[in-house]
Amino acid sequence: MNFLALFSKKFIWVWMTFSACFLLVASCSSDNEEDLFPAPMVLEDISYANDVTPILSNNCYGCHSSATAVNGGGHILEGYTELQSYVDGGTLLSVIKHEDGVSAMPPFGMLSEIQISTIEIWIEEGALDN
Ligand code: HEC
Repeated sequence: MNFLALFSKKFIWVWMTFSACFLLVASCSSDNEEDLFPAPMVLEDISYANDVTPILSNNCYGCHSSATAVNGGGHILEGYTELQSYVDGGTLLSVIKHEDGVSAMPPFGMLSEIQISTIEIWIEEGALDN
């Protein structure tokens, strides 16, 4: 084995050891209990009133309540009946998933994965007024 090959082999080991240490330190640097032990995701029996409405209220009603719809192109999402017209045909789901060809909602940022899944499962379970 020539010198260069030996050198680069050593270099790779040093680099790998360094990266491993860095990853170890980075992965242990969180002392937030929720990060270390995330609550198990239980996404079933989603309720319109208890699960879906709070997400829409916090993220969408600023532009889509009956009082604020002027900010949201006149689209009202507040209220079960109003929301239904966006559930049917899949508009609600495609805008929150930022799919191509629709306006991404909310316009700034995106709902979290768990919020999107909550709405998706609620729709899959029949979008009940529960
Ligand atoms: C800052 C204001 C604002 C917020 C917050 C907002 N929207 Fe909108 N939304 C708009 C505007 C403006 C339009 C109409 C223009 C357009 O389609 O881009 C719209 C349109 C829509 C439409 C109709 C799209 C269509 O093509 O018919 C839906 C559904 C919608 N928003 C859902 C949501 C949801 C769900 C949220 C929350 C996760 C949300 N929006 C948050 C401003 C907002």
